[in-house]
Amino acid sequence: MTETIASLLQEGRIYNPPEELVENSNVKKFMDKHGIKTYEELLERAKDIEWFWNEMVKEVGIEWYKEPEKTLEWNPPYVKWFIGAEYNIVNDALDRQARLRKNKVAYIWEGEPGDIRKITYGELHREVNRFANALREFGVERGDRVTIWLPMIPELPIAMLACAKIGAIHSVVFSGFSEKALLDRILDAEAKILITADGFYRGGNVIELKNRADGVLNDAPSIEKVIVYERCNVPTNMKEGRDYWWQDVVRNQPKECETEVMDANDILFILYTSGTTGKPKGVIHAHGGYAVGVAATLKLIFDLKEDDIWWCSADIGWITGHSYIVYGPLILGTTSVMYEGSPTYPKPDRWWEMIEKYAVTVFYTAPTAIRMFMRLGEEWPQKHDLSTLRLLGTVGEPINPEAWIWYYKYIGNEKCQIMDTWWQTETGMQLMSPLPITPLKPGSATKPFPGVEADVYDPDGNSLSKKNAGGFLVLTKPWPAMLRGLWRAEERYINTYWSTYKDIYFTGDAARIDEDGYFWIQGRLDDVLNVSGHRIGNSEVESALVSHPAVSEAAVVGKPHEIKGESIVAFVVLRSGISPDGKLMDSLKEHVAKEIGKIARPDEIYFVSDLPKTRSGKIMRRVCRSVMLGKDPGDISTLANPEAVEVVKEAAKFGGVTSK
Ligand code: PRX
Repeated sequence: MTETIASLLQEGRIYNPPEELVENSNVKKFMDKHGIKTYEELLERAKDIEWFWNEMVKEVGIEWYKEPEKTLEWNPPYVKWFIGAEYNIVNDALDRQARLRKNKVAYIWEGEPGDIRKITYGELHREVNRFANALREFGVERGDRVTIWLPMIPELPIAMLACAKIGAIHSVVFSGFSEKALLDRILDAEAKILITADGFYRGGNVIELKNRADGVLNDAPSIEKVIVYERCNVPTNMKEGRDYWWQDVVRNQPKECETEVMDANDILFILYTSGTTGKPKGVIHAHGGYAVGVAATLKLIFDLKEDDIWWCSADIGWITGHSYIVYGPLILGTTSVMYEGSPTYPKPDRWWEMIEKYAVTVFYTAPTAIRMFMRLGEEWPQKHDLSTLRLLGTVGEPINPEAWIWYYKYIGNEKCQIMDTWWQTETGMQLMSPLPITPLKPGSATKPFPGVEADVYDPDGNSLSKKNAGGFLVLTKPWPAMLRGLWRAEERYINTYWSTYKDIYFTGDAARIDEDGYFWIQGRLDDVLNVSGHRIGNSEVESALVSHPAVSEAAVVGKPHEIKGESIVAFVVLRSGISPDGKLMDSLKEHVAKEIGKIARPDEIYFVSDLPKTRSGKIMRRVCRSVMLGKDPGDISTLANPEAVEVVKEAAKFGGVTSK
C-alpha cells in the first residue's frame, strides 16, 4: 500500500476527471445548452449572478406558487432572493415529487440492528401530511418554533418537512448533544413543541432521549407538548396532558394536508452552531434561496441523475444532513440511503456492506471517517463490491492528501472524482468544490461554485488572490442559501460576519489561492475547534468546565489529532482547597459530556495553579496552545502574569496532575 500511495503522490497531484464523467455530466449539459465551452467560461458567465441563479431555478425545477418579481435585493448585510415569490420548499421537496415520482423510493433506511424501511415519495408525502395535521391540531402555527431532538430515523425528515409544510420553523438538535444543550436551544428559540424519541441504537446500545429530556423540561416553560416516537421500547415516563406518542397522534389524521403558502424569504429553520462565545448561534435559513442553492449544488457538483443512489453519511442534526439528506435530494427526487447507527457496528465494514447491498452510486462523507477507516485497514472495504460508486465527496475539514489518496484508491477504485466541498452552517450550501469537469488537486476544495465569488484578503482588505499568500477567506457577493441572520442576535450577526470588512462576508477561515486559482483552506482563525468535522467553541467547553463546582478557571485549546483532526485539551485551575486527582479528571470529562455532549469531552485535562492572562484579565488561549505544542509562545511581556507560562509549560510536560 505504501508504495502505491507514494507513487500516486508523486504524480504532480493533478487528477483529471474521467472523460465519461465529463461527457455525461449535468454541468456539461448545462454548458452545452448555453454555448459555454470551458470551465473558465462557465465561471466567467456565472459572474452575472442573477442570470446564473435564475437558470438554476429552471435547472432544478423550482415551482413557485407565484413567480418572483425580482431576483435579488442586497442591502448588506441583509439579503433577499426571489422577492415577491410565494413558495414553500415542501412543494418542491415533497408535493411535486408525490405527483411525479409517487412509487420511487425516497429513503432506503437501515436501523443499526438491521431493520430496513424503504419509503416511497408517495408514502413520505402521506406520513408528512399526517404528522403536519397532528402539529396543526396541537396549535402549531406559521412562525412557531418546534425543536426536534430525534436520531437518524425517517421520522426526523418527516418531522422537519411537516413543520415546514405548515410554515413552522424547525430547530433540529443533534441527538448526540446532551439534554443541557437541548435546553439551551429550546430556550433560545422559545419552542412550543418538542419532538423526540424514546431512544435509538448506537454501537449496540440503546441511547435514551425522552427520559433524559425530562430532566430539563421543567426549566423550559415555552414547551407545551412533547411528541415521542417509540423506536426502542424503552420504558418511558409520559406526563399526562403534555407528552404524546407519535404513533398515537398520527393514527387518525387525514392523508392530505394543505401546504402553507409562504413568502420565499420566510424562515424555514434555525440551526445552532458554535461560535467564539459560550452561547451557540441560531443560524437562520429561508425557504426560497436555500431550496435553489442546495438543489443546484447537488445537481451540478454531485451530478445526481434519476437512477442514482445517493448516500450522505452525515447526521441530519448538522447542516450537511439538513441540506444533503433532507432538502437537496428530495427536491431532485433522488433515492437516498439513510443509516441510524455506528459506522463500525457490528463490524468495521458496515458502511461498505451497505454500499454494496444498496448499489450506492454517489457517496459523501467526512475526512475524519475516512481517516478512521484508513486506520482500520483496507481489508474491510475490500471484502465488498463497491464498483457501483461513480463519485465521492468529503466535507467538514481540509482532507489531508494521505486520506484523499486512500479514499480515491480503496473506496473509489481509482475511477471516482472526489468532491472536496467547502462550506458552513451559515452558507447553507456547498460554496467551493470541484465539478465533474474540474481537474483535482488533493487537499484543495478547488474553486468556488459558479455564481459564488470568494477571495482571500489581508487584514487591510487587499486581495491576495494573485500572491499565493495566506489570508482570510471571504465571500464578496451574496449567494442564495446565505444565512438571513442569527436568531434574535442581530448585533452578533453583524459583529461575527460583517465587521471585519465592509459589506464582505467573513468566513472565519484562513486560506490561500494558488497560481491556478485553486483555494487551499487552512482551518479556523477564531477560537473554534474542529473535532471530527464538527464545530465546537473553545469557550463552550470552558463554560461547561467552569460550571463544575471544583473548577475556577479553564482554557481550552485544540491539538492536532490523527483521526479527529483536532482533540480537545483543557487547562484547569481548581477552586482553593480542592486537590487534583485522576478521579476528578474523569468526572470533569464526564461533566463536559453531560453539559454539551460526548463530542465535546476533553481528551486531556491539565491541572494548573494559574493561567496566562492579559492585563484586562482575558485568558490567553493562544499562549497555552503554543506552549502545549512545544512552540515559542511569542512575546509574553504584555501578560499580567508571565510566570503562568512556566506553570502551563510544566503541566504540559508532566501530564495531567501537577503540583505547580
Ligand atoms: O473551517 C471550515 C470547515 O468547517 C467549517 C464549517 O463548519 P460547520 O458550520 O460545522 O459546517 C460543516 C459542514 C458544512 C468551515 O468554516 N470546513 C468545512 N468543509 C471544509 C472545511 N475546511 C476545509 N475543507 C472543507 N472541505
